This record gives sequence, C-alpha cells and structure tokens, in this order.
Amino acid sequence: MVVPPRVPLMSSENMEDFGFPTELIREGRVEIAVPKLEAFVALPSDYAPSKAPVFYNPAMELNRDIAVLALQAYQKRLGEEIYVCEPLAGCGLRGIRFAKEVDSVKKVLLNDLNPKAAKLANFNVKLNRVSKRVVVENDDANLILSTHAAPRKRFSFIDLDPFGSPAPYMDSAVRALRNGGMIALTATDLAPLCGVHPKACIRKYGARPLRTEYCHELAVRILAASLARAAAKHDVGVKMVFAHSTDHYIRVYAVSQYGARKADETLRNLGYIVHCFNCFHRETVNGFPQAAIPNRCPECGGSVETAGPLWTGKLIDKQFCELMITEASERRFKQHRRIMKLLSTIREEAELPPTYYVIDKMCGKLKAQIPPIQRIVAALKSRGFNAGKTHFNPRGVKSDASAKTVVETLKNL
Ligand SMILES: C[S@@+](CC[C@H](N)C(=O)[O-])C[C@H]1O[C@@H](n2cnc3c(N)ncnc32)[C@H](O)[C@@H]1O
Ligand SMILES: [Zn+2]
Repeated sequence: MVVPPRVPLMSSENMEDFGFPTELIREGRVEIAVPKLEAFVALPSDYAPSKAPVFYNPAMELNRDIAVLALQAYQKRLGEEIYVCEPLAGCGLRGIRFAKEVDSVKKVLLNDLNPKAAKLANFNVKLNRVSKRVVVENDDANLILSTHAAPRKRFSFIDLDPFGSPAPYMDSAVRALRNGGMIALTATDLAPLCGVHPKACIRKYGARPLRTEYCHELAVRILAASLARAAAKHDVGVKMVFAHSTDHYIRVYAVSQYGARKADETLRNLGYIVHCFNCFHRETVNGFPQAAIPNRCPECGGSVETAGPLWTGKLIDKQFCELMITEASERRFKQHRRIMKLLSTIREEAELPPTYYVIDKMCGKLKAQIPPIQRIVAALKSRGFNAGKTHFNPRGVKSDASAKTVVETLKNL
C-alpha cells in the first residue's frame, strides 16, 4: 500500500486553532486538515481514529475512492446536476471529495453532531474553495435528514457512513431521497452481521446471520434486505447497483424507485439461505415474509440452519460496475491497482448466484490437496457449470454447481 503523503502543517498564521493537534493530508484531489492521529495514541492497541476529538480514518480511503467512482457513474447515468448529503461527515473529507471529483455536483450538505467536526469541516470547505457549493451543519443526522423529507428538498445522493451500523439512520435517509436517488450505506458492525453476535444482528437488521465461510456475503445481503424493508415502509422500492466487502466493513449502493408496486417488486428479492454445516450444501429460498424452508439437508439428511430474511436478488448492476471501471481507469488513485482488481472481480461475479465455496475449507475436510482457484473454476466450467472468483474471499469460488458437485470435482483434480 502506498503511504499517503504527509504535508507539513500550514504556518500557524493560516491554520485555525482547533484546540487539538492537526495536520494537512492529501487524498484524491483535495487537501484536508485532520487530527494528527499519532498525538492520540497512548498504547499500541489504541484505535487512533476513535481516540481523536474528530473522526478521521486514513484506512477508509478506498471506501471513499469507490464512493467517488460510484457517484460519478451515477451522475453519468442520470445526466443531471446532483444534490448530495453526507449526514455523518466527520472532518468533511468524503463530501468535499464529491464536490471536487464528481461532475455536476450542485450542492453538498455535510453534517456532524460533533461541533469540533463541524468546525474542522467548515475550515476544510474554505481551504478547498468550495464554499459556494458545500455547506456544513452541526446537528443530529436524523434531524437533518427529516428536514429534507419534503419533495423539493430531497437529495439525489445520500452517503451514510457511521461507526457501526447505519440502521438508526436508514428510515430518515429513505425519506430524504428523491425518486431515482442513490443511497450508500457503510456497516462496520461485522461481528453482528457475520453471526458472532446474532442477537445484535436481529435487533439492528431484523435478520438472523450465520457464521458460515461466506458470512461476509450474507452480511451484505442482510444489510440490503434491511434497506429494502425500510424503503418499503414508505412505498419506495430499491434496486441494488453495487456492493463490496473490504477490510473491516461492507458497503451497499442502491437506487430508489418510488411507488407501492415498485416496493412490492423489491420485496420479491427477499428470502433466506439455508446451510448444512455437515456437507457444505446451501440453497437460496425466495419468499418474504414466508418461504418454504427445508428442515433437513436434501443431500446428507443432516440438520440445516437458516440466515435471513436477506436479499436473494442481484447485488451488482454489471453495466453500473463497468461505468465505475471506466471512471477508475481514467483516474490515478493511490490504490489504483487494488481498486481495478476489486472492480473487475466484482464485475465477473455480478451474474453468479449467491454464496461461494471456500476451496481451502472444503479441501481441509476432504483431506485433499488445495488446487489453484483457477483450476477448480476451469474444471467446473468444463463440466458445463457457471463459475468464477469472488471479491468476498480470495480462496472462494462462486458457482451454480451444487456443493456435492464441487466436492466431486475437487476429488477428481
Ligand atoms: C465514521 S465517522 C464519519 C467518517 C466520514 N464519513 C469519512 O468518510 O471520513 C462517523 C461520524 O458520525 C458522527 N455522528 C455520530 N452520531 C451522529 C449523529 N447522531 N448525528 C450526526 N453525526 C453523528 C461522529 O461524530 C463521526 O464524525
Ligand atoms: Zn448436508
């Protein structure tokens, strides 16, 4: 990974006094004053971003780069001026990047409950000379969103990037999103979403998680379904356009479609995933609220466990992903190669079914040698199945072949 360039502090005459150590950094096409993280780390185990008086996490640069690409792809598709809201903005880095790096961004509303964050964001707006288009508020995110729920006040894009779960803000975000608007959600609460703390997942997302080898995909699908249900309450449907799971967080991007019929159609993408911990069998069962869930594994007769309700439909709009790839190829982000690889893998998995097989885990159980991923993909394809890699796990294979077929194929390699 390329280390972000550290720029020495502006001279003290130019830099406002925020009451805590700050420094200037560069990310994308902006220069931003951020808390000097080293100053807030007392122990090696301290997580600096949450110790600082204003939140700033350099490790989320890729998250912000992808958000810039998704917003640019969305704007190209829409072909109109866009109105953006970042209700949990921290020092303003993400929203200022939208204003400077995406075409036709007419207005950006940045907000943070922390007055120190709002002050720093205001400074950064001036520093980047975007005061005409970017405004900063210092209020509760739900209040800000609710005051934009009236028809002419709604946004074309809302980016919810909280600590932990976006669930507390989903409802008011849906109300503040115009018809055809895009919403992006970050969730960092992977312990609940991946089934380590299932009760918390049920509380936040109204869904049961499962600690399977493909739990990160289940996490994305649980988040997407939770958004779909929040939107449906307001007679709004959603179409998933992009999603990714990276490092310690997941992201979902969806476009709203107003109307009760659209909301009903959206809910047809909800269902459950049934998993057998004995033989790797898994199946997707469509249906919400009810679905015909088997209580025994059809392959080995063992008991099965169920995750959901979750999104069983497509997570990725392949053409949208291609637009993002075109945009990425024209820019030079610090993590350019990583981003290109991530996007091209996601494009390949767009048409593949839910869940994936983690080959190392299967080989471990079979006591078989672990083949290169490409070999198992090729072997499955040669048997007439659809198969490919997944960005969720470098050792994962997505395929329409059953677990039994994948096991047979592995044994024959
Ligand atoms: C993860 S940080 C945001 C990081 C930022 N989006 C970025 O990309 O750099 C979450 C922010 O939400 C703010 N926050 C927490 N609860 C809030 C609330 N109820 N209303 C508004 N802001 C809130 C915190 O002060 C924090 O700055
Ligand atoms: Zn089984």
